[in-house]
Amino acid sequence: MSATALILAAGEGTRMKSATPKVAHAILGEPLVRYVVDAARDAGCERIVVITGHSAEEVENLLEDVECVRQSDQLGTGHAVMCARDSLSGFEGSLLVLSGDTPLLQAETLAGLVAMRETSGAALTLLTTHLHDPSGYGRIVRDRDGAVEAIVEHKDLAPEQHELTEVNTGTYCFDAAVLFAHLDRLTTQNAQGEYYLTDMVQVFNDEGLLVTALPAEDPLETLGVNSRVQLAEAADVLQGRINTAHMLMGVTMISPGLVWIGPHVSLGRDVELLPMVFLFGNTSVADGAIIGPNSRLTDSAVGEDARVDSSVLVEATVGPGASVGPLAYLRPGAVLGAGAKAGMCVEIKTSRVGANSKVPHLSYIGDALIGEGVNVGAGTITCNYDGAAKHATVIEDGAFIGSDTMLVAPVRIGRGAVTGAGSAISRDVPAGALGIERAEQRTVEGWAATHRVARASEGIEANAGPSGARDETETSDTD
Ligand code: UD1
Ligand code: CA
Repeated sequence: MSATALILAAGEGTRMKSATPKVAHAILGEPLVRYVVDAARDAGCERIVVITGHSAEEVENLLEDVECVRQSDQLGTGHAVMCARDSLSGFEGSLLVLSGDTPLLQAETLAGLVAMRETSGAALTLLTTHLHDPSGYGRIVRDRDGAVEAIVEHKDLAPEQHELTEVNTGTYCFDAAVLFAHLDRLTTQNAQGEYYLTDMVQVFNDEGLLVTALPAEDPLETLGVNSRVQLAEAADVLQGRINTAHMLMGVTMISPGLVWIGPHVSLGRDVELLPMVFLFGNTSVADGAIIGPNSRLTDSAVGEDARVDSSVLVEATVGPGASVGPLAYLRPGAVLGAGAKAGMCVEIKTSRVGANSKVPHLSYIGDALIGEGVNVGAGTITCNYDGAAKHATVIEDGAFIGSDTMLVAPVRIGRGAVTGAGSAISRDVPAGALGIERAEQRTVEGWAATHRVARASEGIEANAGPSGARDETETSDTD
């Protein structure tokens, strides 16, 4: 099939009551309109054109890989199609016209619609459905033989037409050449003063051109999102669909209702997703990895058998068998090699941590290149920013960074070198050397007995441990 898709997404979506245009609202980390683009692509559409208008730039920025055409004044769905006339000139064949706010439409349904039009030779085949409460929708009027005679918009219904329950889903397959040859016949003589695309049914019927309809098997699939209530409804359905597909492919989720996975995420076999996990964007998780609880991964890759616990990853890469968290934050460009570790309260950005290297506790690693088998002690910080520019830290294979080392970049710690705990290292430490920067410790014999006893007699906490001890030069006791 080589249909082209035209997706109408220029409307504001007033019922969303939002500063964000309707089709930009996200479900599982992707804008609404993206689901429609994906369905069209999966249905075999080679070319996809999106009509933008309201907050056009914001919508276009979400669709960088898709062709967009502007409709500067939103004069109705028919007018939106008129705006695509130049872009689609010369195109012959099936043109799917879709709404940008129907994220539950499935590719198979669209392919079925195209197939039906092409086998029937109709000028238009439209997707309909039956609803218990059809209010708000355009109604399908059929003649005595069951042929589609017209679509009447809710606001234009005659009193007796309110009983009609078959509705227009806003999903159409046109013969493109026939559509554009007759599009100028649309007028704005209706309750809303708009060019209704739906009036093409009557135009074609007047010309003796065939119009057919495909009733959707599942009315839910055609849900149009007009309010935040419907946004949540659609999100629920998509979450269920996506999670079910992954579970059937060998992913464990103990509570699938507490796992949110975007449509472009790929998961291996025996991946385990614990509750409160969010996997968005182009995230991938390889076989046997365990994610969660409480983790959010966006555009990140996790290797086989890795473990991510209660952490946030954005554009990060975690090697096979590596371990992240609890409470780690891996920011863009963080790369952990095989078997590496980023532990409790560790933040890493634009840095590579080599295979089997460990950053287990309370560290910030930025703009660093860390070799293999390195141990980074608790509280270590790469001081990468001098207020104006970022600088690099290099730690070569097998180095040992003492706890609470400040690595003042640019700085290099050589192969197998060691830094002393509590040092501010601002000069390179050569391979195998010790770098230490620390005032020498003073030990005052008998200090505790004299000072603590004296204080106790003044009624000050006698049992204060070492942290209660004062420097012997300090004379104030007024606290
Ligand atoms: C439309 C149909 C109605 C159908 C319903 C299904 C018409 C006249 N009516 O009504 O029969 O039952 O969809 O959901 O087509 N848009 C533009 N430019 C415009 C106007 C709309 O791009 O000038 C876009 C909107 O962004 C939206 C889509 O077209 O994605 C549908 O528009 P909307 O205003 O929601 O139409 P409905 O009133 O729902
Ligand atoms: Ca120090």
